[in-house]
Amino acid sequence: MRMRTRLTELLNIRYPILQGAMYAISTPDLVSAVSNAGGAGILTDAWDLEQLRENIRKIKKLTDQPFGVNLNMAGRFADRVWQSARVIAEEHVPFVTTGAGDPRPYIPMLKDAGVKVLSIAPNTRLAKRMEAAGVDGIIVEGMESGGHIGTMTTMSLMTNVIPEVEIPVVAAGGIADGRGLAAALAMGAAGVQIGSRFLLASECGSFHPKNVAKIIAADDEACITIGTTRGKGMRGLRSAFSEKYLEMELAGVPTEELNKFAANMTPTIAREGISEDGMNGMVMVGQSVEPLKKVQTAAEIVEEIMARAEETLKKITSMSLENE
Ligand SMILES: Cc1cc2nc3c(=O)[nH]c(=O)nc-3n(C[C@H](O)[C@H](O)[C@H](O)COP(=O)(O)O)c2cc1C
Repeated sequence: MRMRTRLTELLNIRYPILQGAMYAISTPDLVSAVSNAGGAGILTDAWDLEQLRENIRKIKKLTDQPFGVNLNMAGRFADRVWQSARVIAEEHVPFVTTGAGDPRPYIPMLKDAGVKVLSIAPNTRLAKRMEAAGVDGIIVEGMESGGHIGTMTTMSLMTNVIPEVEIPVVAAGGIADGRGLAAALAMGAAGVQIGSRFLLASECGSFHPKNVAKIIAADDEACITIGTTRGKGMRGLRSAFSEKYLEMELAGVPTEELNKFAANMTPTIAREGISEDGMNGMVMVGQSVEPLKKVQTAAEIVEEIMARAEETLKKITSMSLENE
């Protein structure tokens, strides 16, 4: 089975589903499982370049299907993007995604190596700029998503960006089931990028079981955003830590102090899982948590999304305006 969209044609994949890069979570096992299931998995960059190369080679052993790498241009990675881009080009990775930085210097080298470039754009102006720079596709990621977030919603980004560019647009943020995929296609998107739902994939071995349990127990009122007033919003689940962070943030505590308070959050919660008292961090996940109720294989997730999308698209196409 396959579904043809401009994204599946561009990347030579069966289904228009990308598994969004998730730092330290989207490892070769998850990436290859999503690619084998007919979507495309996306690996995150690694600080150690040999580790990055090793991860890419491991994926190639686990799947002969297309996959991507997220070229990290933020934080401590900002000064050595060339090195990661070179490894990606040398390994002829099928595609990269880029965000949080200007990918234009790296585009010629990547394209010369046959690497397709999909750029995450936070608004129409930057989407147009990326299109003019020669990227192959745009990803718009709404603030419904888990992890670091922007300010616009997925619906407004699709409404604003899709009619303004010629290249395929992938919608991300808050899409967790087949109805979401069908809605994005109805809006003119060429496919979707999903992160949160794949946190519950059985191949997502680096995501701590305590964090998985927290997500399964969560409802849509459990989501919280912190850091938005300091220009770096993050979405995840309410915990004693995230409530405290927000309280300090809204009370005007200086950003350096907040950074100190949050300094160890990501590594600790990845290593130990969320603690009983919830003070060691925040489980990062998007707003569409209700469909995230069980652990499934990546293939089951992809097949379930595709079956529901097909059902929804059939329902939509049978609707028409009738004379009164
Ligand atoms: C735990 C977590 C970590 C993430 N880490 C990254 C990352 O390192 N780089 C990136 O480009 N996007 C990252 N994202 C965003 C995803 O790639 C994806 O675009 C997003 O999850 C889509 O929205 P959803 O969470 O509603 O599915 C992360 C998302 C989550 C939930």
